[in-house]
Amino acid sequence: MTRKFMIINGPNLNLLGTREPEVYGSDNLSDIEKYTNEQLKLLWNEPVELDWYQSNIEGEIVNKVQELLKSDYEALIINPAAYSHTSVAILDALKTLNIPVIEVHLSNTHLRDAFRQQKLTAKSSTIIMEGLGKRAYLLGILSQLIK
Ligand code: DQA
Repeated sequence: MTRKFMIINGPNLNLLGTREPEVYGSDNLSDIEKYTNEQLKLLWNEPVELDWYQSNIEGEIVNKVQELLKSDYEALIINPAAYSHTSVAILDALKTLNIPVIEVHLSNTHLRDAFRQQKLTAKSSTIIMEGLGKRAYLLGILSQLIK
């Protein structure tokens, strides 16, 4: 049986590659998607489906999270980006899920601005990974596959 993971990326992550490369690296989101798929194939022999979604719009992210309520995804990997620091709506949506939520941030936000220290969405995350750059998505998925 194919194991399925949803990966949601929040605002401005569509600009990865050109957006503050000194903070977020030089890969764009499709490079990261390709990297994750390729590495996963090397590391894991069984079939795994990764579905990637990106939106700059809070309500669209809420809708996408709600879709998981009637789906067979086994976990959600989410980089809520700036909404992590502000969005009660995304926090509330995540709270309705009964699958693991792995929150990832490419940068280590603890080394950054004070306003990035508050993470509302992390209150409903099972796992939080920061500062691993593009590897975070792969490692988040592996965290669910390995025993
Ligand atoms: C981010 C960190 C957030 O503070 C920021 O607003 C982002 C990206 C990260 O991946 O490091 O957009 O989530």
